[in-house]
Amino acid sequence: MAYNADELRLMKGRTLIPMLTAYTSPVARCLERAGIPVLLVGDSVGMVEMGMTTTRDVTIEQMCYHVAAVRRGAPQTHVIGDMPYHADVDPDTALRNARLLLAAGADSVKLEGPKYDVIAHLVAQDIAVIGHTGLTPQTATSFKQVGRDRRDADRIIEEAIGIARAGAFMLVIEHTPAELAQVITQAIDIPTIGIGAGTTCDGQVMVINDIIGLGEYWPPFSKQYAYLGATIRDIASRFADDVRQRSFP
Ligand code: KIV
Repeated sequence: MAYNADELRLMKGRTLIPMLTAYTSPVARCLERAGIPVLLVGDSVGMVEMGMTTTRDVTIEQMCYHVAAVRRGAPQTHVIGDMPYHADVDPDTALRNARLLLAAGADSVKLEGPKYDVIAHLVAQDIAVIGHTGLTPQTATSFKQVGRDRRDADRIIEEAIGIARAGAFMLVIEHTPAELAQVITQAIDIPTIGIGAGTTCDGQVMVINDIIGLGEYWPPFSKQYAYLGATIRDIASRFADDVRQRSFP
């Protein structure tokens, strides 16, 4: 059975939480078999699978399509559906769109930034919500690390506390100094999941395409466990040679 939000929240201080993004059924199946307890269908799908230059162009329909695919591949795993840009612009719009993600197969939804009223509204309707602070790609003007000076660090700490108070059960912290993520992790009672935020968070999330090396660019904080892009190129050119030499089939 998939972990529910309460079970995941109670993992804080007990066990570290590994999380990966997934967008398709076959990859979700592999991740479930590997025992990854939480899969995030991130709006990063727009950039890493759909060739977009920003996550802002991803639609709720596209997110639902990918959530459903991931759910079919990983029926026993907690699946988070990411709210695309503007899908959470106000509480009622957010509720409508969150329900679409849940109907597509998500167990919970994630949204970016200090939208305390939206989070509280969804939680009041029994929807489990994950917050996201630090670098928030939907509104960021660059992908540089944030929270480096005192003022920005204080803003992010305040956001994290506000998101937890609004009722989120988990918080993603993206691309901040490790010390800042540590302060936040100690300040709130819900698990923090870091991405480029050091090792002291309660869990870590990575974009699956980055760690398997499917692409041409990887964020500086991504560990690359393989370079599948090169493997695919190699297989494709061997196949093309076989066809040209009539040695296939
Ligand atoms: O969309 C996404 O994949 C995310 C992660 C980077 C946390 O939000």
